[in-house]
Formats: sequence, C-alpha cells, structure tokens
Amino acid sequence: MDKRPPDPHTFALPNEALVKHLFLDIEIDFDQKQIEGSATYTIEKNRSAQRINFDIDGLKINGVVDQDQKDLPFEISSYFKYLGKNLSISLNKNTEKVSIQYSTTENSRALQWLSAEQTADKTSPFLFTQSQAILARTWIPIQDSPGIRFTYDAKVKVPENLLAVMSAQNPQEKNDSGVYEFTMKQAIPSYLMALAVGDFEYRKIGRRTGVYAEPSMIEAAVYEFSDMEKMVIAAEKLYGPYIWEQFDMIVLPPSFPFGGMENPRLTFATPTIIAGDKSLTTLVAHELAHSWSGNLVTNATWNDFWLNEGFTVYFERRIMESLYGKDYADMLAVIGYKDLLETVENMGNKNADTKLKLNLEGRNPDDGMTDIAYEKGYFLIRLIEENLGRKKWDAFLKNYFTENAFKTKTTEEFLLDLKNHFIEDSAKLNDLNIEQWIYEPGIPENCPVLVSKKFENVDVCVSNFLDTAGFKLCNTKKWSSHEWLYFLRNLPDTISLAQIELLDSVYQFTNSKNAEILAAWFPYTIKTKYQPAYEKLDSFLSQVGRRKFVAPLFKVLIEEEENKIWAKNLYGRVRKNYHAVTQQTIDELLY
Ligand code: BES
Ligand code: ZN
Repeated sequence: MDKRPPDPHTFALPNEALVKHLFLDIEIDFDQKQIEGSATYTIEKNRSAQRINFDIDGLKINGVVDQDQKDLPFEISSYFKYLGKNLSISLNKNTEKVSIQYSTTENSRALQWLSAEQTADKTSPFLFTQSQAILARTWIPIQDSPGIRFTYDAKVKVPENLLAVMSAQNPQEKNDSGVYEFTMKQAIPSYLMALAVGDFEYRKIGRRTGVYAEPSMIEAAVYEFSDMEKMVIAAEKLYGPYIWEQFDMIVLPPSFPFGGMENPRLTFATPTIIAGDKSLTTLVAHELAHSWSGNLVTNATWNDFWLNEGFTVYFERRIMESLYGKDYADMLAVIGYKDLLETVENMGNKNADTKLKLNLEGRNPDDGMTDIAYEKGYFLIRLIEENLGRKKWDAFLKNYFTENAFKTKTTEEFLLDLKNHFIEDSAKLNDLNIEQWIYEPGIPENCPVLVSKKFENVDVCVSNFLDTAGFKLCNTKKWSSHEWLYFLRNLPDTISLAQIELLDSVYQFTNSKNAEILAAWFPYTIKTKYQPAYEKLDSFLSQVGRRKFVAPLFKVLIEEEENKIWAKNLYGRVRKNYHAVTQQTIDELLY
C-alpha cells in the first residue's frame, strides 16, 4: 500500500486498511426522515492490520458482519468536534469484507428532507445529500478523506412514484418497484457520494448530456443548459477526454446550499441559475471542469483545496472563452478579481487563511472554503500561463490530468511536477515567486492586472450616475447580467435612499427574476432601508438557501439594530427551510 499524506479530517488509517469498493443497500423513509440499510466494503489491508477505521457522525450503528455474515467486534469513540466519531472494526486474518448496518438520524447533516411544499411542483417530497467537505460520514459510515478512492454499487429503495439518482450510472425514468440500482465503476473519493430522491424527470440535451428537473421546471432547464454538450466538447479539446461518459445536471429545490456540486456524472445545481437567458451557466462550465480538476485529480487533503477550486475556475473561464469569446471570459475574471480584493480586505491581508495552502487541522474544513482557493488560485494559474505561454501551459495541463488521473495531489507534489516539467523555464518560474503565493498571506504584487472593455464602459456609467446626482443614465439596452452585476457591485456603500429609489424606478431591480442581481441589489436596499424591497427580500430569504446569497444578506442586515430585529424574526420563521450547512453559517452570524 502506498504512503499518503496524513489527512487531519479522518479517523481512517489508509496505510493499515482501506476500502476499495462499496455496496450500499439502503431504504429511504420519508415519514421517519431516515435512511436505513447497510454499507458493505471490500477492503485491502496490511498483513498486520487488526482494525479498519471509518468516520461516522450522526449515525446509528446497528451491527457489523464480515463476508460470511459473522459478527465483527467494533468500537465507537467519543465525539470529536467537527470530525464526529471513529468506528473502529476489528479484523481477522481472513476478513475481506465488512458490512455495516446503520441508520441515519436527525443529526445527519448531509441530508435535507423537504416536504412537498418546499419543492417547485409541491406534489412530492424531496431528499438530497451534500457530502463535501466532510458530511458524507453523516449519511454513510465511510473513510471520509479525499485521498481514499473506491468504486461503488448501490441499491436504493424509495417510496412509490419517486425517482432516485446518484453520482453514478443513472436511471432516466421511474419504475414500478421503487428500487433503483446503480453502478459507479470509476473510483471516487467519499465527498463525491451523492443521492437525490424526488419526483423529477429526465430530458436529453446532447449525446452525453441531459438534465433532471421537476416537471414544472424541465422546459426552462433544457433551454438554460442547451450549451452543455458544446461545453463538454470544448473542455475535451483543452485537457483531454471526458472519462465519466455521461454529464447530466439535476436542478434541486432552492434550499440547496451551494450553486453547484460536481457530483460525478450528475452535477447538483441550484435553481437560481435558471435566469431564462443562459446568463448564469458559467456554473455549468465550472462543475464540468471539476470532472478533470477535482474528480480526476483530487486535492489530497482539504488543506490543498485550492488545487481543486483554483484550477477549476481557471478551466471554467477557458471553457467560457472557447464558447463565448475573450470579452466574455474577461468579464468573469474581472468580477473574480473584485471578489478576491473584497475577500482579502474582509479577512485581512495577514490572515493565514489567505494563503493558498491552508492549515485546517482541528478546524472545520468549511472555514477554508473561501474565495481565496477560487480566485487567488485562479490568478496564480493565470500568472503562470501568461509567463510560460498558453501553448506550453496547456500541454502541461493536458499531460497533468492524464498522468495523474484517479490520483490525489498535494500542493507540494504539484510544485514538483511544475518544476520537473519546465526545467528549461526554471528561471522564469523562479521569478514568479510561486512559493509566496502559496505559503504567504495576501495578494502578491505580481498578480495579473486585468481589464474588461465591457466593464470600462460600465465604470463610466456608474460615475455619470453618481456625478450628476442620478440625472445622467446610460443606455443599458445591450447589457448582459454580468454588466448589471458589475454596475451594482460598483455602487458606493454610501449611496442615498433617493438614488436607490431612482435606480429602482428606472431599472426595476427589486422585481428582477435573476437571483444574482437580487443578491447584489438587496444590500443597498437594506442599508438605505428602502421599504418596497423588504417584502421581496423576505420571500427571497424564505425560499433560497444558497449560502453564497443568504450569508452576505444576513451580514448586512445585522449591521443595524432595526434590520437586525427584522432579520432575527425572519430567520426564526425560515431557518427550517435551510440545509444544515447554511443553518450553521447563519446561526454563527446571528447568535
Ligand atoms: N465543490 C464546490 C462546492 C463546495 C465547495 C461544496 C466546498 C462544499 C464545500 C463547487 O464546485 C463550487 O465551487 N460551487 C460554486 C459555484 C461556482 C460557479 C464557483 C458555488 O456553489 O457557489
Ligand atoms: Zn468548484
């Protein structure tokens, strides 16, 4: 067995004993809000290994047997903050399989059980999981480390009239038995285990692409994602074959705590990207890009999270550039730069969490999931690309994904690969101070400076509007939602109520159907206490549980006493609509 870097977020001891294949046999009970069944693992162990460790959190363990159904003794440790418990199973010389009988509890935080009321069609309940970063252990007893990969099969029993899908080969329609079988023949890490159950249907988009959504959403989803196949083709041209065979999306109910989650073969997505004009489909490119950076070549531990996200943002923008041109991709990068500046300003440029290489030991890995990994990571890769030249850099990346397929990478291993590959360019590489980017906080001075022609035009509009007390408004007919977002984000924090009223009367932001625009607009209406927006803000926060939107809005709300009371009151009412991931963030903010 190979040596692996220690992962501070698992009890698993992969150098002693590790899982190779999972057979998951579970039943979904919506009445009890419980999953019950067994996880049977084929294992690999050292000759001397006497135990195998699994991570569990919020699970009830009902028994453990081996391949001959013989009981295996096991021990469950006390509870460790953030990590949960160690389920340590005693092994015999001959143990090949361990089968763990278990059930989930109300503390199984990966799971969100939604009533029919909380879905788009309001006819059937819905269940979805969110395993990243370390929540897989709350719905499956598992070796929950990104450095451990396994293949899986699953048998999932669901109530009549519901369909089940996973990060695996999926059914495209319901059957009468309510039993669905899955295979995942490519080895994946635990954080990519995923399940959704509900009343949704499937539509094909391209040869390898398609979408699942509730019936009332399916048409809109097919329209919104119509470029999916083109994205896969563009991605393959850049960095080699898409090896997962199928690339589908599922549109989840609005409480899904993230924009998207790159579950293999089936990306989970928030419905808030369905804007009606395909303007928010960068997210599709992002999750698709993870099929290489992340799912194929995986960060060894959460301290190397930037390897997953920074590469993916870079790749996402390259896909968008191939499909929609450089002006489009530049807009995304400039918005990204703004996000990076804001993040570093908020966190402080000496903050250790603004380093690319994180130290999350003893902490919730969620703490490291900031824009640093995404945008500082992106700008480092962009810096390298600009200096080595795109042609050489693309050749390196293509090779990197092929050579390291189904492997994990630490930041240090990546640096070594880079050095070994670019020996003749070593002077150039040295000049880039890559180590500073990785091991030092803040934004290094050589961060690429970007301009977007389209946004320069928007800058002029913002100044005009502010300089003329609102009387000079731009011609915005041809603006995409990116220009609108940039416009909104560049308004000063000190904007007056009168200016907000004027903007809303002309541009109707409060009535926008675009969730990104609403999320960028509300902070101003909150700060100026613009009354007509509160009702919309209330319904937005009651439905949408996407943390990236919800958390910043609560942050602005609690800055002022009256707003804070309003927010606490609202949260008391809507907290139950949010997934545990979002609940945790907002709880920490408010209490
Ligand atoms: N893998 C992430 C989501 C994630 C990260 C979940 C860390 C849990 C812990 C996903 O690929 C992602 O980055 N989603 C973004 C969208 C993207 C377009 C930047 C999101 O959800 O906002
Ligand atoms: Zn991502």
